[in-house]
Amino acid sequence: MRALKIDRTRLQGELDALALITEAEPPVVTRVLFSEADLRGRDFVKKLCREAGLKLRQDAVGNIFARWEGTDPKLSAVGTGSHIDAIPNAGKYDGVVGVLGAIEAMRALKRAGFAPRRSLELIVFTSEEPTRFGLGCLGSRMLGGVLSAEKAARLKDREGQDLNFWRKRGAAKGDLRSVRLPRNAYAGFVELHIEQGPVLEREKLDIGIVEKIAAPSTLRMQLTGVGGHAGATLMPGRRDAALAGAEIALAVERAATTTGSPDTVGTTGIFRIEPGAVNSVPCRAYLEIDLRDTNVKTRNAALREIEAAARKICRKRKIGLAIERLNMDPPAICDQKLVRTIEAVCEERAVSHRRMISRAYHDSLFMAQVCPTTMIFIPCYKGYSHRPDEYSSPAQIEKGVRVLAETLARIAN
Ligand code: GLV
Ligand code: MN
Ligand code: MN
Repeated sequence: MRALKIDRTRLQGELDALALITEAEPPVVTRVLFSEADLRGRDFVKKLCREAGLKLRQDAVGNIFARWEGTDPKLSAVGTGSHIDAIPNAGKYDGVVGVLGAIEAMRALKRAGFAPRRSLELIVFTSEEPTRFGLGCLGSRMLGGVLSAEKAARLKDREGQDLNFWRKRGAAKGDLRSVRLPRNAYAGFVELHIEQGPVLEREKLDIGIVEKIAAPSTLRMQLTGVGGHAGATLMPGRRDAALAGAEIALAVERAATTTGSPDTVGTTGIFRIEPGAVNSVPCRAYLEIDLRDTNVKTRNAALREIEAAARKICRKRKIGLAIERLNMDPPAICDQKLVRTIEAVCEERAVSHRRMISRAYHDSLFMAQVCPTTMIFIPCYKGYSHRPDEYSSPAQIEKGVRVLAETLARIAN
């Protein structure tokens, strides 16, 4: 194989072009699953895959697979990929670097005359972000066999539209039961991603190699109080659902800051109240709470504490409460052999690196259920992510793509 040349200018042009496909005003990126923008984004990526000579297919939940057939196609393939959906008010690098970067990695390998023995396959996962259905990693969760077809079919979004409705929009056809991958469907899976935290930048390192992905969980709470006229309903005896919600949000903060572990993080990221009129006592509140830790026991203890606090608060305020655990995922432990392979690549190319944990979740969390998995992190400006000023430089991205390409090549041959 000739020396690898990564075309960072072309890749940056593609990152910039995809960032303009958004539901929001650029530079803000918002691409919610199977929205108009998400569909156009998917088309953009598919076109690049076709131009790169990759063979495309889509599964029943809309995961996109783009394959470079190996010389021994019977062998299990080497997987890579990430997502292009983006939460409201996001930036342009989260997920996208691992998709467009993987395409450039394959193009660079082709230009260098590399012939993979195992096939190389890019996966663009459906709905890594939880925006549409409240559940993150929908596509990889199903591939990993963690979410059944029956449960997936029951998912509903805020407007009451279910997965089947959105699947039709996304031209994702077929039996949802067919999505699940057999064990060891891939010889290995490696996801390239921005770090979304400050460690690599602070330590002036090029690459993070992920050993473990923190355990995420999500609670949904629906609070029902009694509404009324904001002027005529006197304060004693009010049953204000928003106030109960506010107390619960504070209980989330308390639970996350008192576990004794610096790794516990709790966020009440969704807090809606109804009817949402300034002169009306809120009769309903709707909360979604994100709680994570590297240690699943600590996370679960904090989760139970939040649920108990919510029940107590609602009893005291005479508010109806329904709690739903949307997901309670274990952490993922990455494959040591893959971690060492990436370390070897970094060392040979004089790329600075360290092992680390991922505090964000990723599709790799669920790919780890079915095959050896790890991730390659690159630094991002101040660790900013899930905000429009998310940034990694072309040079940082190029290094990540190079390490990804060489790693894929090693696993393939
Ligand atoms: C992924 O987007 C996460 O919330 O960790
Ligand atoms: Mn994200
Ligand atoms: Mn991501």
